[in-house]
Amino acid sequence: MATERTLSIIKPDATKRNLTGKINAKFEDAGLRIVAQKRIHLTKAQAGKFYEVHASRPFYDELCEFMASGPVVVQVLEGEGAIAKNREVMGATNPKDSAAGTIRAEFAESVGENSVHGSDAPETAKDEISYFFAGMELVG
Ligand code: CMP
Repeated sequence: MATERTLSIIKPDATKRNLTGKINAKFEDAGLRIVAQKRIHLTKAQAGKFYEVHASRPFYDELCEFMASGPVVVQVLEGEGAIAKNREVMGATNPKDSAAGTIRAEFAESVGENSVHGSDAPETAKDEISYFFAGMELVG
């Protein structure tokens, strides 16, 4: 399998509860390398642009409001099949459906406040990484 990069976001519900280190340990234990990382506070407009693909969904406004409600940690994870591996480590979107041991099963509070985001495909990963990071910030 090829080495890939994927965009990860540790969401406001998790940064608020001081879970950044515990979540990063899950990535690293799974063999994913954190090759870029920064803590930022998104505006609602910046969150809205990131989640533009969901603009017609009923939860869009709530999602953007939440993502701007506190700091997030945006990061690039690298590894063999990193996109799928990260989704495995995160668990299902709704914590009620997440497998035991996954980040969302352990830490998510609800389907909306679900602690982490991860890119879902190579093209999305490329776009999402470039939304937050310049090439020089990725240090493999
Ligand atoms: P994420 O992987 O960041 O991608 C889109 C997000 O929308 C998703 O995680 C959830 O946090 C959020 N989301 C999906 N479904 C719902 C829902 N029914 N209600 C609120 N938020 C949702």
